[in-house]
Amino acid sequence: MKVLTVIGARPQFIKAAPVSRELRKYDEEILVHTGQHYDRNMSDIFFEELSIPKPDYNLEVGSGNHGWQTGQMLIKIEEVILKEHPDALLVYGDTNSTLAGALAAGKLHIPVIHVEAGLRSFNMKMPEEQNRILTDHISSLLFCPTETAVHNLKNEGISQGVYHIGDVMFDAVLQNINAAAQKYNMNSILSRLNVIGELGRNRINIEKITPKQYYLATIHRAENTYGYEKLKTILKAFELLDLPVIMPVHPRTRKIVEDNVGRRFNNIFFVEPVSYLEMLYMTQNARKVITDSGGLQKEAFFLGTACVTLRDQTEWVETLTDNWNVLSKIDHNEIVSIVIKEKRINVNNAAHKFFGQGNAAKKAVEIIRQIKPEGRRAAI
Ligand code: UD1
Repeated sequence: MKVLTVIGARPQFIKAAPVSRELRKYDEEILVHTGQHYDRNMSDIFFEELSIPKPDYNLEVGSGNHGWQTGQMLIKIEEVILKEHPDALLVYGDTNSTLAGALAAGKLHIPVIHVEAGLRSFNMKMPEEQNRILTDHISSLLFCPTETAVHNLKNEGISQGVYHIGDVMFDAVLQNINAAAQKYNMNSILSRLNVIGELGRNRINIEKITPKQYYLATIHRAENTYGYEKLKTILKAFELLDLPVIMPVHPRTRKIVEDNVGRRFNNIFFVEPVSYLEMLYMTQNARKVITDSGGLQKEAFFLGTACVTLRDQTEWVETLTDNWNVLSKIDHNEIVSIVIKEKRINVNNAAHKFFGQGNAAKKAVEIIRQIKPEGRRAAI
């Protein structure tokens, strides 16, 4: 069987790593990188660190408005499908690369396999929500990470081809956390962190930052980075926190801060995007994570680090259990009080209960192999 996998953004490289390794034991995989993320530290580093095979095609689409970016991908993925004649097309998550892959295959009656199906924020203004709903509705095989995701699909009338397999990101964390701990310690990480000089004129005072004595923050969602107002509120809150904030900066966020900032930050250490293993290490050792990322909320939960999510809603409602993850509005007083106040009840968290046993990729591949492509074709 020949599976054409489409990936393009940072979280998809992480999700694809365990599935691709499993899939290639039995089947042929053609890997297509759309080029949505293209900087070395947003792309290549993940392929190297996670031993993901080199893409067979790099579409080099790059950045642009949503319509343009998705359209370019659609045109180019269709060309690859017509050349390769795959039996199925595999996509992950909710990015523009996901939707473009699903749409290109769906229109050519190639069965679509969606890993991380059924997630919903119920906020249709989010590009990710539009991408995931549309992708789910043209998919033949839908692999759900949680029971909640299965339930969401059922509410939209989708029950055929739906499988609850657990979360491939949990697989990835379990497979890599020991390597992260072996490769890094606090000093080695901090000395490697390249502080972005123009943003924070401070240099990291390594003495000051020890395990559990810093917050780890990432902000990149369109809703928080559209214009500077919300981002300004978030950064103001970070300046008021009781511990230093290490913030690996997504290029979108960096551009907005650089264009608007005319001040010095004293408590925020802006650093270049870090690698997956570095991020795992820093997440496990942070006092708390503060983020608007979907993936990082979960990684914090998997690793037993409390999280504050700067959004009005989360797709990963399981992480809210026992206040491991707490949502905050974009209000500097609310952010500060939620981060500083220890709301989490200190019980063992339930990653295994909600996100599977770390064998989601194996399960996905078993199901893909059991169900003949023709059968899935008929389902379209
Ligand atoms: C995308 C996904 C989001 C995911 C995120 C992970 C969509 C709609 N959103 O958002 O769901 O959580 O990836 O990071 O697909 N840029 C660079 N270098 C890069 C990549 C991006 O400079 O390597 C800059 C560009 O200026 C670009 C901006 O970042 O305009 C945003 O990139 P974009 O492709 O729009 O998506 P993300 O914001 O990363």
